[in-house]
Amino acid sequence: MSKSKIIITGGCGYIGSHTAVALQQAGFEVVIIDNLINSQENVLTRISEITGFKPQFEKVDCTNPISMKDIFAKNNDAVGVIHFAALKAVGESVAQPIKYYKNNINSLLNVLESMIEFKIPNLVFSSSACVYGEPEKLPVTEQTPLQPATSPYGATKVMGENIIKDTIRAHPELNATLLRYFNPIGAHPSGKIGELPNGIPNNLMPYITQTAAGIRDKLSIFGNDYSTPDGYCIRDYIDVNDVADAHIAAIQYMIKNKPGIETFNLGTGRGLSVIELIKAFESANNIKLNYIIAERRPGDVPELWANANLANQKLGWKAKRSLEDTLKSAWQWQKNVSDLK
Ligand code: NAD
Ligand code: WQD
Repeated sequence: MSKSKIIITGGCGYIGSHTAVALQQAGFEVVIIDNLINSQENVLTRISEITGFKPQFEKVDCTNPISMKDIFAKNNDAVGVIHFAALKAVGESVAQPIKYYKNNINSLLNVLESMIEFKIPNLVFSSSACVYGEPEKLPVTEQTPLQPATSPYGATKVMGENIIKDTIRAHPELNATLLRYFNPIGAHPSGKIGELPNGIPNNLMPYITQTAAGIRDKLSIFGNDYSTPDGYCIRDYIDVNDVADAHIAAIQYMIKNKPGIETFNLGTGRGLSVIELIKAFESANNIKLNYIIAERRPGDVPELWANANLANQKLGWKAKRSLEDTLKSAWQWQKNVSDLK
């Protein structure tokens, strides 16, 4: 029997590469579309070292409608599309909004148009916990009201969700799952794939591992005077492999139930403060981290964590990796990357 085929845009990136591995290991055939704007082609070799299969690769910009249609025409037997491709640096999006709207919105429109034209029925969209802004009640459920985006990046996620909802309404033959990721961290246990930030990391986890590796002098903690139990910001840090697994569950759920549109939080349901994450990293890896307390970072919400019960009930998915294993994998990956340089 031939394998079910999934098209993954942005499949060379952090979450996409872990999802490609998980899909191949679950018996799917994977086609990756990526223009490598924030990733490297050698990820494909790493994927095949883990799974034994090299994905079909198309080095294409998703904002190019003609190339996208060519690829979808060639792969019109695909059962679904997972759309990761996007630019994701919040600060850069404030400085260069047009770049972000052009890239993230045009890519999504081309994906949807090609899906309609070539009758590919199921879409998974990478949304983000940032759509909740600063919520009144925690943890947030999928029913928690969304708040106006605080950055052009966040706006592309809110708009993306709305564009997909309108499209599904007009095209009942399509299904879509909007996955709102909280804070994905960690790497594949093989140590062969992980997060590869360009330049100085914006996110906490790669900043921690680069500081531990001596690439950065010290970590600045952005504020310890928040109205949280210990004064530090709280987030829901989730293992990237758990995030990857949820995409398979979403694809299988859509194939089975043809649900129209569904939205799920992907978090652990556990909030951790910045200092709790740092201490857990130090203890999992037996490392002392150099850090200082700095000013608050503009735009940070004090606390955000998920109620992920809906994904558990409907998709049968739950975050299952332990924090300790996740933090060990993040450090192992950092050491491997440092060795490569
Ligand atoms: P990433 O930057 O590692 O991966 C994105 C991939 O998309 C990269 O390989 C990049 O080269 C590619 N890409 C970008 N624009 C493209 C285009 N126009 N055409 C083709 N390829 C393009 O990011 P990630 O962390 O893996 O994030 C994946 C998705 O999840 C993104 O949509 C992101 O917004 C979303 N997300 C990420 C996080 C997070 O913390 N990592 C949280 C919430 C949501
Ligand atoms: C986590 C915590 C910082 C760096 C962002 C995006 C969001 C989503 C995930 C894509 C915060 C603190 C950080 C540092 C620090 N991405 N911190 N020192 O801000 O929750 O979410 O990434 O969709 O949209 O906004 O993640 O990792 O940047 O920060 O103290 O050097 O770590 O203040 O409390 P965030 P983060």
